Amino acid sequence: MNNEKILEKLSGVMYPGLDRSITDLKIVDDIAIEHGTPVVTLSMQNDEAYELLKERLQDLFEGKITIRRKGMAKKKDIHYGHTANPNNRAPYAKRVIAVTSGKGGVGKSTVSANLSVALAQKGFKVGLLDADVYGPNIPRMLGTAHETLRWNDNDKIVPSENFGIKIMSVGLTTPTSDTPLVWRSSVAVSALIQFLEDVEWGELDFLVIDMPPGTGDIQLTMAQELPITAGVIVTTPQPVALDDVSRAIMMFKDIHVPIGGLVENMSYFIAPDTGTRYDIFGTGGGEATAEKYGIPFLGQIPLDMRIREHSDAGTPPVAMGEASQKGYYKTIADRLLKQIL
Ligand SMILES: Nc1ncnc2c1ncn2[C@@H]1O[C@H](COP(=O)(O)OP(=O)(O)O)[C@@H](O)[C@H]1O
Ligand SMILES: [Mg+2]
Repeated sequence: MNNEKILEKLSGVMYPGLDRSITDLKIVDDIAIEHGTPVVTLSMQNDEAYELLKERLQDLFEGKITIRRKGMAKKKDIHYGHTANPNNRAPYAKRVIAVTSGKGGVGKSTVSANLSVALAQKGFKVGLLDADVYGPNIPRMLGTAHETLRWNDNDKIVPSENFGIKIMSVGLTTPTSDTPLVWRSSVAVSALIQFLEDVEWGELDFLVIDMPPGTGDIQLTMAQELPITAGVIVTTPQPVALDDVSRAIMMFKDIHVPIGGLVENMSYFIAPDTGTRYDIFGTGGGEATAEKYGIPFLGQIPLDMRIREHSDAGTPPVAMGEASQKGYYKTIADRLLKQIL
C-alpha cells in the first residue's frame, strides 16, 4: 500500500461528531511506511476524539496501521482549569455574550435570537452561535432551518445570514431536524471549538452564544476557551426555575465570568380577550433573585402567544412583531449595553 492509497482510505474517515473527513479537516499531519506498515500521524487536541479515531482507523486497516499523535506542544498553551485567564478562540469578536439558563424551555434561545437582532438593529455587527447541542433551535427561530453547512474556498464554514446577523448552529451538522443529538461532551466541545475557529464570521462587535442549559462541561470549557464579556441568564419566575438559575449564577461567579444580568421570561400573561393579568409562574421572583446575588436585572418578557408564533415562523418578534413585543427585547439590549459598553 502506498501513501496515495492510504490517503484515499483516510479521506473516507469522518471526524467524530462532525460531517467532515479527517483529511478535509487537515488533521492528518504525516503518512509514512515503516517496516511495511502504514504510520499515520494525526495533529489534534481533543483526547477523546483522538481515541475514537484511533479505534476507527485500527478497524479500517484491520490492525495493520500505527497511529501517532503529533507533538502536543500547542496543548501546553491551553490553560485548562484557569478561567481567569481564558484562551481566545474568537479573536475576531470584540465582545462575547453567553446566554444561558438553569433549565431548558425557559426561553433562552428566544432571548438569544431577539437580543442578537436587537443589537444588530443598533448598528452592531453581530454573530449568533447556537451552541445548544441538545436543542439547536436557532435556525428555526431565525428562518434559516432549510440551510446546510457550506464551505468557502478558504476552507471556512459560511454562516447563514438573516435579520442583519450571521448565524451558525450545531444543528446544521445533522442531516435532518429530527436527527437525535447524542453528543459525548468532549465531542460536542470540539465541534463548538471548530465553529469558533472555522466559521467565516468576519469582524464582530458581538458574538452571542446560545449555550446549553445547566452547568456542565460545555459551559466550563467555553468559559476556558473564550473571554466571555458577559453572561446573560434567562429564567422563568417560579421557585423550581429559580433554584436552578441560582446554581448557574454561582457557577459563573466561581469561574470568574462576569454576569451581564438576569432576564425573567414568561413573567405574566395578559388575556387578550379580557385584558386580565395572570401571574402564571408567580411574580417578582426574577428581580428578587437578581437582587439576592447582586446582579443586574435586565427585564421581564410576558408570556405572549405572538412571541411563540413569531419564533416558530422564523420571524423574530423584535424585528417582525408589534411595538410591545419589540420593546421587551430592545429594553433588555439597552440595559445590557449599559453594563458592558
Ligand atoms: N415570552 C414568551 N411568550 C410565549 N412563548 C414563548 C416566550 N418565550 C419563549 N416562548 C416559547 O417557549 C418555547 C421555549 O422557548 P426557547 O427559547 O426555545 O427555550 P430554551 O431555549 O430555554 O429551551 C418556544 O416554543 C418559544 O417560542
Ligand atoms: Mg433553546
